[in-house]
Amino acid sequence: MLRAIAYAGVGLWLTLAPVLAAEPAPPTRSAAEIMDILMWNREPVGGPFALTDQAGHARTNEDFRGKLMLVYFGFTTCPDVCPTDLQAIGLALDKLGPDAGNVQPIFITVDPERDTAEHLAEYVPLFHPRLIGLTGSAAEVRKVADAYKVYYAKVPLKDGDYSVDHTAYIYLMDRDGNYLGFFPPGTSAERMVEIIRPRLTAPGR
Ligand code: NI
Repeated sequence: MLRAIAYAGVGLWLTLAPVLAAEPAPPTRSAAEIMDILMWNREPVGGPFALTDQAGHARTNEDFRGKLMLVYFGFTTCPDVCPTDLQAIGLALDKLGPDAGNVQPIFITVDPERDTAEHLAEYVPLFHPRLIGLTGSAAEVRKVADAYKVYYAKVPLKDGDYSVDHTAYIYLMDRDGNYLGFFPPGTSAERMVEIIRPRLTAPGR
């Protein structure tokens, strides 16, 4: 049922296609392939990870067992989509009130080169005091992004700088770290609460 809420996100994907040609070292799979996998549930989503949080501490998926995880991939210099979705996640936690203690919001950077732990420490508190920011080596980040079926690729800018194209789904994982479904970019805090709250009160979940 959760997956049904995703269809509104399809249009956003189509805008990614023209910029892919600019990517010098493309990921192994295209954005369209990854979208298909996610939309039609063709492969498992999620899995173990070992990364570093904004305080410089090693964190793994096991640290969050017993809590629902809201997992979001993005980068701190993203101009609009990431901040909007992270704000919605923060607001959803506020709306959940005391129940929010059983939900762990996690932001995983797809730009580890620039998003160091120190940088994440300045960024994540802007959205919610409980938001955990994770970074790692390029290989560690690629591994977890592949597991979550996240597409991301560097896009060179004219001034020699770069941006990062990325898919922006918000993944909801259960208390055992299993994938429940995803929210498309632009999902409201109210909608997240509607889906998350029953999960918090359901026995065993
Ligand atoms: Ni973004």
